[in-house]
Amino acid sequence: MNSNDRNVSRRSVLRVGGAALVGIAGSRGVRAGNPGSVAESRKDGQDMTLVAKEGQAEVAPGEAGSTWLYDDRYPGPELRVSEGDTLRVTVENRLPEETTVHWHGVPVPNPMDGVPNVTQDPVPPGETFTYEYEASPAGTYVYHSHVGLQLDRALNGPLIVEEESPHVEYDREYTLVVDDYLAGDPVLDSIEAPPGRGGGGDGGGPGPGGGGRDGGGDGGGPGPGGGGRNGGMGGGGPMQGRRPPYEGMVVNGRLPSNPPVFEVEEGERVRLRFINPSGATTYRVGVGGHSMTVTHADGRPVEPVEVDSFHISMGERYDAIVEADSPGDWTIVAVPVVGNERPAETILRYDDAGGTGSAGRPQFDGRTLQYGDLRALEPLDVDGTPDRTFDLTLSGGMMREPGAWTIDGQVYPNADPLEISEGEHIRVRMVNLSPAIHPMHLHGHFFQVGDAVKDTVLVPPHRGRVSFDFIADNPGDWLFHCHNNYHLERGMARVFEYV
Ligand code: C2O
Ligand code: CU
Repeated sequence: MNSNDRNVSRRSVLRVGGAALVGIAGSRGVRAGNPGSVAESRKDGQDMTLVAKEGQAEVAPGEAGSTWLYDDRYPGPELRVSEGDTLRVTVENRLPEETTVHWHGVPVPNPMDGVPNVTQDPVPPGETFTYEYEASPAGTYVYHSHVGLQLDRALNGPLIVEEESPHVEYDREYTLVVDDYLAGDPVLDSIEAPPGRGGGGDGGGPGPGGGGRDGGGDGGGPGPGGGGRNGGMGGGGPMQGRRPPYEGMVVNGRLPSNPPVFEVEEGERVRLRFINPSGATTYRVGVGGHSMTVTHADGRPVEPVEVDSFHISMGERYDAIVEADSPGDWTIVAVPVVGNERPAETILRYDDAGGTGSAGRPQFDGRTLQYGDLRALEPLDVDGTPDRTFDLTLSGGMMREPGAWTIDGQVYPNADPLEISEGEHIRVRMVNLSPAIHPMHLHGHFFQVGDAVKDTVLVPPHRGRVSFDFIADNPGDWLFHCHNNYHLERGMARVFEYV
């Protein structure tokens, strides 16, 4: 073992929640590597291009399917910059249809947000569009197409904005893009809202009073509400609707028959950046033989919290540090919480483990992260009474629009804007009357949910309630929607409009 490049000397000092905090140490000397997804590090101001086109995703040796990709890679190339860098990416559309790219989570200026017909005209086939913005704040993000069901092809990739001084120290890092891989063309009807449920409308507001920002977790936290993956609602039972016919669950574009292998050395602290750009899948994640210390939620730093597993829904990201203190081969597993597909897998391999024998799997019998466990290190300024409150009902299956998913009974794009004004403190209270998970994502802003700062929050099914607050500090028209690609396409979106 070569300890020279491990920067042992910068290990310190203060321990909170089981993880070391450092004041000024950066991640110098940290090794990044990404089996199945080669990092591409670019410098400030350098032009990058992303070519969107049809190609082959080789999810296992000899098992390639044609899909739509960025730069012929699945996931797309990792874009890695430093906080404050200017990111300038020219997207070249060689697809047979229009496209856009959205920089999920980054509070970009509105014209750079990549929402078709809201922030820009979609890019026609054969044309290009250049996105340019300051990469800030630091965090783990994801870029993806925002047109139609293109997200559920392979049009997504990691965007890493490195912090100058991480609040936790680590020796190396890996990025894990956990995705549901569809071999054929996505079909809108592969998920339907259950027919005939009341559309919500005004009748189903989140109820009287209550639900301040501290109510954020009161729907039961990030868990999907009842039912494990093999529970009564799994496998596309009638209440959950069908699932798209996924070929399988992948990490960095690889099926569990061909898992990426992440090497570690005993004694190292390994930062894992988990990203879920799935079209329709929420996962429960665990690591065999190790706990995880969650350090960032949706890219934003939190007080380190040690857990054995966490749920990650569509559009969410979690960074976690694993202490390599248990030599061997271990499996990092991402289990779909609805659906019966085989879990996505990654092998965590100690370099002296030899790589033989079977890898230990997580038991999922320990502590699972709840939103209420997350304490943002940089909370938003949302104390006090909000200037405006929106009570929004999430439902499925309106009589008038069978198959649609709705917010207050409205089906985007035939939906009223939600009007806000610059400088206001906005509160959004949601109740989910449907039997499906809805990961709700706000563009252009972070929001505070409980003590966490996020941009995507899972609203549990069966009357789950979540409330979040944000400050209207980024003028423009911003999409707010369910990040299940099929729910979005069937109407579950609204636009926050600055007036
Ligand atoms: Cu990642 Cu509007 O989405
Ligand atoms: Cu949804």
